[in-house]
Amino acid sequence: MRVLSGVQPSGRLHIGNYFGAIRQFVRLQDEHDCYYFLADLHALTTVHDAEAMRENTRHLAAGFLALGIDPGRAVVYRQSDVPEVTELAWYLSTVTGMGLLQRCHSYKDKTAQGIVPSHGLFAYPVLMAADILIVDAELVPVGKDQKQHLEVTRDVAQAFHTTYGEEVFTLPDPLILEEVAVVPGVDGRKMSKSYGNTIEIFGPEKAIRKRIMSIVTDSTPVEEPKPRDGSALYALLRLFAPEGDREWIERAFDEGGTGYGEMKKRLFAYFLETFGAARARYEELMADPAELDGILERGAARAREAVAPLMDRVRRAVGIA
Ligand code: ADP
Ligand code: TRP
Repeated sequence: MRVLSGVQPSGRLHIGNYFGAIRQFVRLQDEHDCYYFLADLHALTTVHDAEAMRENTRHLAAGFLALGIDPGRAVVYRQSDVPEVTELAWYLSTVTGMGLLQRCHSYKDKTAQGIVPSHGLFAYPVLMAADILIVDAELVPVGKDQKQHLEVTRDVAQAFHTTYGEEVFTLPDPLILEEVAVVPGVDGRKMSKSYGNTIEIFGPEKAIRKRIMSIVTDSTPVEEPKPRDGSALYALLRLFAPEGDREWIERAFDEGGTGYGEMKKRLFAYFLETFGAARARYEELMADPAELDGILERGAARAREAVAPLMDRVRRAVGIA
């Protein structure tokens, strides 16, 4: 199956991004024909600082590769290196109803957070539809928050088909893993850059330890049983723990006798076990910009070759070729 997904270089990768998205990307590349890209044009809707854009993009590229996305098996590229995407976004925007975009939660949520309500932010789902439709993606692994954007993508594709009387696009389905649909942050809300409650994957070890030790917990005394429901610490331990340690965690919560501090130390140890190798690889990649650039260039060339036949059909369908 053809799989596609993207992540915006709008900040530092955190464990919500990993469990909610990147881990699935890595698993899927064994069996499917995968396209993974850095959504830098999307990030421009919120990042208006050129140096930060460059840094975030480099960080995300190194992070993708360090976490196991393999450019030998998947096509890995930067959105802006495939200009056909923005070309397609324009054709799509001419058949996308205003009402469809006005219903999108993400626009409302972002403007409510104080992000400038620009045309780009409003048109964001159309660009996302272009990302997906341009490679004939059938399956799009994403977090729950992106579900509506997949619905919009299908609606936009159908609007194009109705307008031009020709079925040029494949209608994609989202792939959302329910058990990790929402990874909690250190304050118990959804882990998100915009809440400042993340645990970064590639940050300095000391800072990560401090962050993990700051996870909010209630005031249950050490010796008493602790509630699992609604506990961010419990949810995070469950995400990280190897199969054989699951029982330990359940017992620690249900029987009492284990303090939250001890549990947090265990979580930090799991963090290092899970990401230690990736963190080392990340440092190597960040130290070799030429290697990263080469990988992205080759990825873009493969992506452009793959999208060419569809773009020909689209240009003919709309009457500019
Ligand atoms: P953020 O909310 O920190 O800005 P992004 O929106 O850039 O994160 O998310 C990138 C990818 O990671 C998306 O596929 C998104 O659904 C997933 N993701 C982000 N945060 C979480 C989370 N807390 N739980 C599960 N998945 C998440
Ligand atoms: N909107 C996605 C996010 O914020 C990123 C993204 C852009 C994307 N284009 C995409 C995801 C295409 C999947 C498919 O996480």
